[in-house]
Formats: sequence, structure tokens, C-alpha cells
Amino acid sequence: MTKTFALDTMDAPLAHVMATPAAPLHPESLLALPPGEAKQSLLTVHSILEAKLPAGPLSIYEAGGGSTSFLPLGVIGRAHVTVVDIDEDQIRNNDYAQQAILGDIQTYRFAPDSFDLVICYNVIEHVPDVEAALLGFCEALKPNGLLLIGAPNPQSLSGIVTKYSPHWFHVWFYRYIRGEKHAGLPGEAPFPTHFHPLVTLPNLEAFAKAHGLQVIYRKKYESPRYPEMRRRKPWFASLIDTAAKAMNALLPGKTDVRHGDYHVILRKL
Ligand SMILES: C[S@@+](CC[C@H](N)C(=O)[O-])C[C@H]1O[C@@H](n2cnc3c(N)ncnc32)[C@H](O)[C@@H]1O
Repeated sequence: MTKTFALDTMDAPLAHVMATPAAPLHPESLLALPPGEAKQSLLTVHSILEAKLPAGPLSIYEAGGGSTSFLPLGVIGRAHVTVVDIDEDQIRNNDYAQQAILGDIQTYRFAPDSFDLVICYNVIEHVPDVEAALLGFCEALKPNGLLLIGAPNPQSLSGIVTKYSPHWFHVWFYRYIRGEKHAGLPGEAPFPTHFHPLVTLPNLEAFAKAHGLQVIYRKKYESPRYPEMRRRKPWFASLIDTAAKAMNALLPGKTDVRHGDYHVILRKL
């Protein structure tokens, strides 16, 4: 009763705001992350994109895109997104791109200066020729355009294990430790990994410098798999945490082998 009275006596626009369920502030990809360094870094990435991308309509190239967008809602809501993916199922799973192209990011080329933002998230570790893909991204970016890369850190504990273990082990880990029943089925992660040398952060930064790209953000962070494991499989997580602490103690400097992923934002000069 109270609610009806309140709505009846309000002016129309305010009544509409009250009656409409609150719009989400963040994309599902961010909301699904457990609290921790990964979530914090993605929030920072979002604030940089919001601040640095031009106002108004945007053109975005998503290189390798499944069903999950990692972009802030304020950016994706005013963008024309073109996704290129080599996997038909992944193309079918994608519901936020306006244009979906079945293709290989190593060879697919757009007209120069086409995009305000290129995003390549959880993809370069799967690509045999990362240099070819990156050269395509550089060419497709407009001057001042941004390139966002999210990838696993090959110099971390999880990076080394992923790089040197067989694909069946990755499927096992996803199914039995992460609890993803459909892992490894067509169109479902994990995808086979290659770990080209350019996936390493120092090599990627050297490539950026040599190709007119300025690093505006770089952050290695604890992989979200750790908080996820601590919640789902505490015994397994404490085993891994103990091993990671021992390795950190033996390694020089402030190396943290749990820094399993990174974000990099590059700007085309
Ligand atoms: C781990 S998924 C990441 C998907 C999405 N970016 C995300 O983070 O949810 C990796 C994606 O890269 C795609 N991929 C791998 N190699 C590719 C290539 N050479 N060209 C285009 N897409 C590729 C796969 O098909 C898959 O969709």
C-alpha cells in the first residue's frame, strides 16, 4: 500500500526510476570474480578505459571472444563490437558483439585505423604466432587507440604448470578442482595453450616499445584461481599456498609465484 501511494504521488520520471529494478553496475565477468587482486585490477582497468576512451560511439575489436565480456558496461553500451574467433561454438556463444567473424586473429586483417579499442583477453596464450596477431592489432587501431591484453603470466607457478603439463591435465583441473562439468567439451574452456615467448610481460613490453605502443597500465596479480580454490578445495589450496610460499622464500627480490595473470593497456602513439 505504502509503495502504491508513493508511486502515485511522485512525478512520472522519478516513479519510473523507483519502479525499475536497479541496473547492474558491472559486467557479469567482474561480479563473478572473487574478492582479491584480480577484481581490483579489473576495476582499475575499467576506470582507465572509461577515462581514456573518447566520448560518444566507439568501435571495438574483440580478438578471440566467447560469451563473456570483460569491458565496463558504460563502454560496451556505446560500442559497436566486432569479434573474431576461430571457434564456431565460441562465435555462437557470443551475444554482445554486433559483428561476429569466424577467423584467425593471426591472419585476419581490418582496414588500418579502424578501432578505438582492441581487447584480447585470455587469448594470446592459445595463439602460436602472437607477433602476427599483435601486428594486426597495431594496424587496426586508430592513433591514440587502446589495446587491452589480459593473459596468464608464464613466469608464475600456474603459468609454468600450464605451459609444461598436457591438455588432459588442464581439463581435469577445470572439471574436478574448479567444478566446471562441461570443461573440455566443444566450445568450452580450457583451450589448448602454446605460450609463445611474447606472452611473457617483459617481451610484450619490449614489443610495445618497438612498435609505437605506450604502456599506460601493467599489473601482475594473484590469479583468481587461488581465492576460488581456497573456497572450493581448502585442502588443495593450502598445499599450493605452502608450495608457493616456499618458492617465494627461495626466489630473489619480491617475486610472488602466485601472480598468475596480468593486465596490460597499451596506447598507439
Ligand atoms: C579462453 S577463451 C577466451 C574467450 C574470451 N575472451 C573470454 O575471456 O571469455 C580463448 C578464445 O580464443 C579463441 N582463439 C584461440 N586461438 C585463436 C585464433 N588464432 N584466432 C581467433 N581466436 C582464437 C578460442 O576459440 C577461444 O574462444
